[in-house]
Amino acid sequence: MNQLNNPTAQAVDNVLIYIFGFSLLLLLGITVVTIYFVVKYRRSKCPEPTSQVEGSWLLETIWTVLPIIIVMTMFWYGWSNYVGLREIPADAMEVKATARMWSWQFEYPDGRKETKLYVPVNKPVKVLLYSTDVLHSFFVPAFRIKRDTVPNMESYVWFQAPETGSYDIFCAEYCGVGHADMTTSVEVLSEEDYAQWASSATVSADPRGLIVLNEQGCIGCHSLDGTENIGPSLFELAGNPREIEKDGKTIEIIIDEAYLQRAIRDPDAEITKGFDPMMPAYDEEAINNEDLQAVVDYLLGKVAEEEPDGDRLMVENGCIGCHSLDGSESIAPTFKGIGQREVTIERDGQSVTIKVDAEYLRRALLDPNAEIVKGFAPMMPAADYLSAEEIDAIIKRLLQE
Ligand code: CUA
Repeated sequence: MNQLNNPTAQAVDNVLIYIFGFSLLLLLGITVVTIYFVVKYRRSKCPEPTSQVEGSWLLETIWTVLPIIIVMTMFWYGWSNYVGLREIPADAMEVKATARMWSWQFEYPDGRKETKLYVPVNKPVKVLLYSTDVLHSFFVPAFRIKRDTVPNMESYVWFQAPETGSYDIFCAEYCGVGHADMTTSVEVLSEEDYAQWASSATVSADPRGLIVLNEQGCIGCHSLDGTENIGPSLFELAGNPREIEKDGKTIEIIIDEAYLQRAIRDPDAEITKGFDPMMPAYDEEAINNEDLQAVVDYLLGKVAEEEPDGDRLMVENGCIGCHSLDGSESIAPTFKGIGQREVTIERDGQSVTIKVDAEYLRRALLDPNAEIVKGFAPMMPAADYLSAEEIDAIIKRLLQE
């Protein structure tokens, strides 16, 4: 029973055992008394119903007050443990869980997305619950937590795993044909393994420079899209002229690498005309040279936007849950060989056979129910929450099949 030695499981189990214990005691007590009376007052011994039973204040008071006390302790015990399940420990880490037909996605504060829930051992974890389509229910039996995910509503559960290992996650609310496949796991890692996992690749697809700009709060004063804010916008800086105030004189400079470095390390030395000197200087302790270079490169547009990874997107977004890669057909057509295939689709009530190409795949992603592949049911949610680049990456990947 070691794996149940965790706070949420204990809260639930204690109440269960308490209520079950009393129920068992009452069941046994009542059964014994019933059998005793049946034997003692059997007809052969007492053929005539005789005795005139008088009321007893003492007895009646006892069997009224005692059950009230028992039921109220059940309520109090259940309530106080329930409150414990809803109160998140202050040092809990947060992970966002999104349910959709028919898979789970876990998003970490740094933007990393996973299909399994990776957590460190002995650390409270708050799981924020969302649904993109219908009702699902996040259920981890080992930790005794189960809560519905409701579209347009945020909810949460928390747990703390006392031991490393893999624990099942189920969907506990019938949500369509793929409901039973909506399984994944909590992977509880040791602190070292978790740290290693957290620092491993694919933490964020954003370029380092942009991450630093966000982390340091630069975006709070400097917009990225050209809007003037408290500070000048960071939009399209490279090679553009700028009027600055330096040593009491206004001069015009061309924005380049050296200027941007000075503007971050010693912002008050050269103030952009029309703005106030209020930006704090970022020394090497605040932003090291490497990150400074990343920021400057990013601002000068030297960082090529990394193309999203089609394989990863298909896993992250649960496509693989319904579309196999190995040729097996279940809920939906397989992806195997999809780039070289002709499909027969039902469009406006007619069957049409078309060659799979980028345009067809785009329609199939964004408006999947307009053209249904023959033999399958219209049940795929539109992937319109993906960015244009992500859609392109998935299409490119599928065409290689
Ligand atoms: Cu999701 Cu059942």
